[in-house]
Amino acid sequence: MQFFIDTANLDDIREATEFGILDGVTTNPSLMAKEGISGDKNVMQHYLDICKIVGPGKEVSAEVISTDFKGMVAEGKKLAEIHENIVVKVPMIRDGVKAIAHFSELGIRTNCTLVFSAGQAILAAKAGATYLSPFIGRIDDISWDGMSLIKEIFEIYSTAGYDTAILAASIRSPLHIVQAAKAGADVVTCPLSAILGLLNHPLTDIGLAKFLADHKKANG
Ligand code: G3P
Repeated sequence: MQFFIDTANLDDIREATEFGILDGVTTNPSLMAKEGISGDKNVMQHYLDICKIVGPGKEVSAEVISTDFKGMVAEGKKLAEIHENIVVKVPMIRDGVKAIAHFSELGIRTNCTLVFSAGQAILAAKAGATYLSPFIGRIDDISWDGMSLIKEIFEIYSTAGYDTAILAASIRSPLHIVQAAKAGADVVTCPLSAILGLLNHPLTDIGLAKFLADHKKANG
């Protein structure tokens, strides 16, 4: 399973890159706004900065703001020209599906976002989306079971032989990451805190302290 970091914060992206396990980055308009990035020129520069930090071969999702086909296509083409790492993120709406199909014909990689149902997942795969982003945490937020959607999509994609990668998004905790891996997600995207949270186990800390104490005793 691949690990993407879900942020537009350059320090977090740098830290995750240095950690050595990062496969990509996902952003969205809210995450860009949180970093105070506004205006076309600054937005484009920020995506370029992210691509340079993560290096070649990594995937960086940049979301379109337009909601009509023509606008999404024009914006997506501009985004794709920034850097070869860029994956154009498109919302799961009627014109979005049409735009994904168009990008697919042009060989531009896409991430279909704001996915909350198996039916939407089928449409995105039919359109040729590279990645599909079901929002797990936001489904949990309304007391439904987000992870069961990943399982359902995994079953459908495996049965139908769709190539679209399941990118579990709105992942908020280390437990979500483990559950997504078990459910068949190809990728998880989550904050740095959730990735680092995977490290924690009290027996690891106790064990290491004992090893170091024993080594000190034996070696003075
Ligand atoms: O990038 C989309 C998604 O991961 C958003 O997560 O925590 O805002 O629901 P969240």
